Amino acid sequence: MAGDTGGTLVCGDNLTLMRSLPDDTCDLIYLDPPFNTRKVRASPNGLSYDDRWEGGVQSYLDFLRPRLVEVYRLLSCRGSVYVHLDWRTAHYVRVELDRIFSPANFLNEIIWSYRTGGLSKRWFARKHDTILLYARSNGKHTFNPARCGKFRTDGLKRDRQGRPYKETKSGRLYFHPDGPMVTDVWDIPFLSTVSSERTGYPTQKPEALLRRIIEASSSPGDLVADFFCGSGTTCVAASRLGRRWLGCDDSADAIAIAAGRLGVEPCPITVGDITQE
Ligand SMILES: C[S@@+](CC[C@H](N)C(=O)[O-])C[C@H]1O[C@@H](n2cnc3c(N)ncnc32)[C@H](O)[C@@H]1O
Repeated sequence: MAGDTGGTLVCGDNLTLMRSLPDDTCDLIYLDPPFNTRKVRASPNGLSYDDRWEGGVQSYLDFLRPRLVEVYRLLSCRGSVYVHLDWRTAHYVRVELDRIFSPANFLNEIIWSYRTGGLSKRWFARKHDTILLYARSNGKHTFNPARCGKFRTDGLKRDRQGRPYKETKSGRLYFHPDGPMVTDVWDIPFLSTVSSERTGYPTQKPEALLRRIIEASSSPGDLVADFFCGSGTTCVAASRLGRRWLGCDDSADAIAIAAGRLGVEPCPITVGDITQE
């Protein structure tokens, strides 16, 4: 079932697909589920998915819980999961993840900060999403620290080559040329309305966000899965980074867009050989 570019795209319900896969299949799982916005998420070109939950947050959690249980089973011992949420449900889902993964496997609450969208005069504008990161087995998980941005060096002394440094008791302290280590606050721009990356799919995430996740928590050749893949952003980023990938969405429109981006034909849900290299 492996596709030409090292991946498989499946159209159908993700719980059915997950239950058809063997234990320890995936090295990294990214989940970008509906956010319980209580709206139909639609884009101007008519593409949409339903994010209304009769029964409120309880029914939302009843939907997500069995999928998180499957994620735990599917992760390899060096694997981890990123669950992308916002202020509406991040606190509830974190409790579920603690129950399923154990608090000992919690790694990060990542804040993805951006500036697009409207502002409010009644509260501070809500300009971040929350991405919860858990390891299958803390300590055995893959983690590649990254550097990004620039150090603040204004006002510091410079050496003959013009390099800024701090004077310390043990001598001069120089700054890493690749910038500071990435922390749990990520300043990555949202897709602009005119971005060439835009597919027209509602809530499409930027490739740069997925690149950061995949580079940090997987190695070349690993299997990266996204069970709410929408327009296929995770699969595209994984493919470019030399990882195998598995994408699933129950919207035929989403899968058609993802298939176009990836140049593959989607598969129906069947137990396959996606675990093979
Ligand atoms: C937030 S969007 C994902 C957007 C995606 N990250 C992207 O960059 O395009 C959530 C997706 O979950 C899909 N979805 C909702 N319930 C699902 C289910 N039971 N099985 C598979 N996909 C589902 C929706 O169709 C929607 O495309």
